[in-house]
Amino acid sequence: MTVDCTERPLVQDVNDWLALRPDAPLDRWGVYARLRNEAPMFQMGDIYFLSRHADCSAVLRDHRNFASGFDPEGERVQAVMRGLDPERRAKYQEVLEHQLRWLTSSNGEKHVALRTLATRVFSMRAIEDMRARVQREVDERLEELASRDSVEIISEFAYQLPLTIISEMLDIPEDVRESIHTSWQSMVKLIGNPPEQVPLVIDEVHAGMRELESRLKHTFDLRRGQQTTDLLKRMLEAQEDQGGALSEKDVMGIVAQMVIAGHQTTQDTIGNALLELFTHREQWDAIRADPELIPNAVEEILRYRTPGQMVSRNAQADMQVGEHFIPAGSRVTCLLGSANRDAEVFPEPDRFDITRANARQHLAFSSGVHFCLGASLSRMEVSIFLKSFSQRFPDAHLETRNPEWLANSFLLGLEELRVRLR
Ligand code: HEM
Repeated sequence: MTVDCTERPLVQDVNDWLALRPDAPLDRWGVYARLRNEAPMFQMGDIYFLSRHADCSAVLRDHRNFASGFDPEGERVQAVMRGLDPERRAKYQEVLEHQLRWLTSSNGEKHVALRTLATRVFSMRAIEDMRARVQREVDERLEELASRDSVEIISEFAYQLPLTIISEMLDIPEDVRESIHTSWQSMVKLIGNPPEQVPLVIDEVHAGMRELESRLKHTFDLRRGQQTTDLLKRMLEAQEDQGGALSEKDVMGIVAQMVIAGHQTTQDTIGNALLELFTHREQWDAIRADPELIPNAVEEILRYRTPGQMVSRNAQADMQVGEHFIPAGSRVTCLLGSANRDAEVFPEPDRFDITRANARQHLAFSSGVHFCLGASLSRMEVSIFLKSFSQRFPDAHLETRNPEWLANSFLLGLEELRVRLR
């Protein structure tokens, strides 16, 4: 059933979309378009949603006035806390502390110190040196699929590639990787889901987080004092007990983020890429005929189907963003998925076009000091995959008629994608 959104109050649309109400039309693009046109700064409680490209860019580039992370003592967190029994409250507290140790939650000198640990390893040049390794991994995995008629690409390919590569960079033992993925599948239930669901999911989220931390600690203990990769070595040397300034938990936070951010979003991009290219067949044929088109196709996929739909900041002072006033202490949520469909920047924004001249102006990797650390890596992984897959399986096509999207307002990826290889 289609619902004429224009007759519904905007606030109702936004509420339904954020609450992921199963009976509501989850047409996020429709909601975004209404926000951009009718209320480019949309206030809900103390949250200010920004939906235009220029406003989101301005906020993301101004890290001094718009800080990352969240206030665990703030009203939003405390409201959730009040709805939990003491045992679950303690679990929620622990999970929040874990999230606050992620690089994306840190600010100022601490952010610089943490980020500097990893920057060198993720530079464009360092990532280029890994090209042969990524190609080999793609070839081997595609070879395993070659005798099959049909595959479920998300669980049989898309998550393993980025997880394997980032795990190798962090020297995470092979037998631990699968359980890291499983832990994340539990933890993700807290992200992009409405706060009312916290009591229902917190036990599982907490167990997933504990498992993740214990697997990472096991890795640290195993590798400390041994020969290991450049990246893990730098992480371990930064710890207090090795003469550095960071606690083991701090290091665990940034490593956890690399492993997790390093695979969910890239997995989603691989699935989203195949879906769009198969449903725009002439563009699939174009990349097959001319693989030089692939890097720009990856940018267009990231623009058109942005894997992380939003990022948030906290206003440190009364601020003016474009024509909008945002009071100090407000939470500002930049809707990246909407910014990437802003007609002011992208003509005919709802058209998928791998030759779009300015596709790279998307905000899928954010902007400013928190710009995605793994952008070069994921661009390379997805490009190599698309080239190899399209050359090897030129007649591949969708087997799933209506692929199911993850029920999540933050992540944009597919639950599964069945593909016929020939
Ligand atoms: C298509 C794939 C990816 C997308 C769409 C993506 C998206 C993002 C976004 C939007 C942010 C910024 C968050 C903010 O501004 O608050 C971010 C940060 C980050 N990403 Fe990615 N990411 C991807 C792949 C990766 C990979 C492969 C890694 C591997 C290490 C990675 C590691 C990180 C880290 C560590 C940060 C935090 C940077 C900081 O706060 O300074 N990401 N990513």
